[in-house]
Amino acid sequence: MQVGTNQNIKPITTKINGDGNIEIGGCDLVSLAQKYETPLYVMDEETLRSVCRDYHKAFEACPEVTMLYASKALCTLATSKIIASEGFGFDVVSKGEIYTVFKSGADMSKVLFNGNNKSPDELMLALDLGVGRFSVDNFLEISLLNELAKSKNKRADILLRVTPGIECHTHKYIQTGHLDSKFGFDPTQVDEAVSLILEECPNLNLKGLHAHTGSQIFETRVYRDEVEILVREIARLNEKYSLNLDEINLGGGLGVKYIEADCPPSPYEFAQVVLPALASNCEKYGVSLSKVYIEPGRSIVSTAGVTLYTTGSSKRVPNGRKYVSVDGGMADNVRPSMYQAEYTAQIANKPDAETFEKVTIAGRFCESGDILINEIELPEIEEGDILCVYNTGAYNYSMASNYNRVEKPAMVLVNDAQSDVIIKRETLDDLISHDIIPDRLK
Ligand code: LLP
Repeated sequence: MQVGTNQNIKPITTKINGDGNIEIGGCDLVSLAQKYETPLYVMDEETLRSVCRDYHKAFEACPEVTMLYASKALCTLATSKIIASEGFGFDVVSKGEIYTVFKSGADMSKVLFNGNNKSPDELMLALDLGVGRFSVDNFLEISLLNELAKSKNKRADILLRVTPGIECHTHKYIQTGHLDSKFGFDPTQVDEAVSLILEECPNLNLKGLHAHTGSQIFETRVYRDEVEILVREIARLNEKYSLNLDEINLGGGLGVKYIEADCPPSPYEFAQVVLPALASNCEKYGVSLSKVYIEPGRSIVSTAGVTLYTTGSSKRVPNGRKYVSVDGGMADNVRPSMYQAEYTAQIANKPDAETFEKVTIAGRFCESGDILINEIELPEIEEGDILCVYNTGAYNYSMASNYNRVEKPAMVLVNDAQSDVIIKRETLDDLISHDIIPDRLK
């Protein structure tokens, strides 16, 4: 079985160069840090494209499988352009994501709009820009979207988001398919929703069902169960309401390798579970599907991204551990403090030096919980070293904040020894650009 790009901790172009520094995409990380300053997000184009191609190869036997990249993992103009050029559509969840993928030139008919509380504004924008599918999540949205589509003389193609009742072993904040979830219709509400659509919503065109079980998933059986649940439900609805529903959306969730102990399945292993499950369940339940969507987010962009930090002060607690502080932290990567996420790192300017000490990498933000990595073995760290934290392409920039009024970092795209800024570093003036002092205070 082919190795998946998502099964690497580091971008596939990572090397130690002649100067003894780490390079990615042919670019020396120490030089990148000097040129663009730190913290710096670095995205490797080759790794990003390689994951997209893994997915295509894995599913090439089944042309019904349509890949939508889940933009929430990382949504920028440049990365959207690359991902679209690799034949992906997009899963979006906000006006901002819709606008970004639209501005990147994406084919909007290959965009699906998700979310548990879409606003009228967002639905209008999606209708105006010709978004291809709406995953309708709740009763309010059924009526709202029908009304808005009617006002624009349109008929919206929809999937119904259901909670499949599958528990997966991931952090409880990123489980979504279990029954007590804020997302989608409970199985006991599906008939009521379908009746409402068929009887009272002529501007909605129900095409099928959508589910998403969770994120950072390592067990492929989750998808096998999900396929059966969705295909069986499609068959039941087709029979009961004399329909021809023929689309299912399996959501995203395939995991990545943050640390050595992580063993995510590759897209090939994922496909080897999904494809036979589709074939056998479609036969068993007499269903023929014209489209099977998958919505990977993390596994597309995570491995391609690293973050560079400069090390600063350090402190050894008497009889305790040694903290080394870096110039970023929870505002550019909230995952360790939010999900106890673990990361792997190296010192970019001396990756080969012998392992010297166990340190805890602390962020610079004013929270004791702002720890990026707990207890990692690294060569002796000196002030001014460049720390490279791997696998930060997903849910880092997209969840970044300006906590402590710190400017968000820049992002550069590297490929073939070339580096291009794809997100500018925020400036101090950017930070105050939305502030207003009322006249009476002047
Ligand atoms: N589809 C739906 C409906 C989703 O809700 C999600 C993620 C995805 C697709 C993409 O899942 P992925 O392939 O990226 O696992 N901030 C968290 C992850 C939250 C995921 C939310 N939904 C983290 O940093 O781990």
